[in-house]
Amino acid sequence: MMTPEDRFREALERKWWTIVLACLQFGDTGKAKWADLLALLADIIVRAVGGANAGNTVKVGTMTRVLHLLPCGIFHREKTNVIGSGVALEPRTLLEELAALSQAGLPLGKLLVSSNAKLVLPHHILLDRAEEAVKTDKIGTTGRGIGPCYQDVVARRGLVVNDLRNPSVFRRKLEANLAYHRRVLSTYDRGLLQEIMMKPILEEGIFFNPQHIIDSDVICDRYLSHGRELQELVTDTEAFLRSVVGSLRTLVVGSHGDLLSVKKGTYPFVTSSDCSLRGIVEGADLREEDVDAVIGIAKVFYMTRVGGGPFPTEFGGKRSAAHCRQATSESEMAEYPDVSVNDPDEFRRGIAIRAKGREFGATTGRGRRTGRFDLPLLRYSVGFTGKDVALTKLDVLDEAEVIEICTEYVYTGPDYWYGDRLFRAGDVLRVAVPDPEILDHCEPRYVTLPGWQTSIRGIREFEELPIQLQSAIHFVEKEAGVNVVLLSVGPDREDTIFVKPLVL
Ligand code: IMP
Repeated sequence: MMTPEDRFREALERKWWTIVLACLQFGDTGKAKWADLLALLADIIVRAVGGANAGNTVKVGTMTRVLHLLPCGIFHREKTNVIGSGVALEPRTLLEELAALSQAGLPLGKLLVSSNAKLVLPHHILLDRAEEAVKTDKIGTTGRGIGPCYQDVVARRGLVVNDLRNPSVFRRKLEANLAYHRRVLSTYDRGLLQEIMMKPILEEGIFFNPQHIIDSDVICDRYLSHGRELQELVTDTEAFLRSVVGSLRTLVVGSHGDLLSVKKGTYPFVTSSDCSLRGIVEGADLREEDVDAVIGIAKVFYMTRVGGGPFPTEFGGKRSAAHCRQATSESEMAEYPDVSVNDPDEFRRGIAIRAKGREFGATTGRGRRTGRFDLPLLRYSVGFTGKDVALTKLDVLDEAEVIEICTEYVYTGPDYWYGDRLFRAGDVLRVAVPDPEILDHCEPRYVTLPGWQTSIRGIREFEELPIQLQSAIHFVEKEAGVNVVLLSVGPDREDTIFVKPLVL
């Protein structure tokens, strides 16, 4: 008899060439686990957007590795991994990541780096951090230079990986780029800039020049040397990926999530790449019609968000948002040793869920803000991503007595125009509008479903899940109009339930 896994494999084996994995929420939904699993069926795995602001946690046997720039299929020795042209690439981070993996003796797949990937330069990191330091309404960026790097791209002064192969062109473009950035940097407090330049991420002052702040000679030396190290990997990945459509299977793995996309997210509290489906496909240099299937990933039955920005269902609201700016796993364990997912106090409940779900940033170590599962936001993302979804982290609320799900919002703010609609206090929203002016004034309405209060680890068949959990999943399917294809009941590859095949 065929298992659900066989059926899922069969559906995939037969008909597809390109599948995209995209997060439907604010990132950190466990994409890397699905990427690792689906990579088994693919020939090529592509990382398409964002940069070292992402942190993908991949389990390799008994070891756990966090990847910031390398594609999630890198541990599959016989596969080709591609860093696409949409990626903001910081060469040192990539080289360090590669060196750490080869030092650990891990067999790695082939790696190709797009000659058109965008270069993150030291002053991008400096500006990112300086701007966050002076801003009042902080985005809470990861400080990896992502915003300034993509700003340079659209302002037509950016550098790309290919420039590393042409030293005189690199120097010329760098000088032109710095002419602009030195003007900008001169508006910041010199002491602040100097302090940031001394951080380990900027190699403890190596790029600092007392006169110009940034030393272009040192950048040239470092970057051209990194370029020589990467030389063998750099290629025209666009031509390569386009040439294999229809002959090799490609898995494109998104970064971050729909709600953090600069085009679709809760702007301005977003990252600076378009990490929605369209941006992911573009970052891999494919066309939308090349894509055979999309799997949207959502965390249930809670949610997280890192950094600033609206989060209507947050446990403990503004108090939690402020608390998470400082909170680390250690500080919370010391300060709140006895919290429970059933705590009557929602702020403490949020802390308990953070600990249970190990919700601390893979890149920054910051505590992720936790909230209830939010259907209006999911309905919004599904609208431009797709209906086949994988639900992750189901086991985190195994002990919860009840599961709260936000089904709609009531708008409570002042009169506010959004397009042709005037929002008035008392209006009900079933689908979220990504504008923070609206989301910050939305009062969630919840339904409360019974919890299952038993461990679901080790369950491999949907029908064997506790009936309360099956009902909750059916509730999400019906309410969000989605088709649940995969479930994750634990961190390992095996902790997966193949619910139904993808509709290809
Ligand atoms: P940036 O991408 O470093 O510019 O940060 C912009 C916003 O996106 C901040 O709120 C970050 O916390 C958030 N962010 C960026 N990358 C990720 C991610 O991979 N997971 C969750 N949040 C992220």
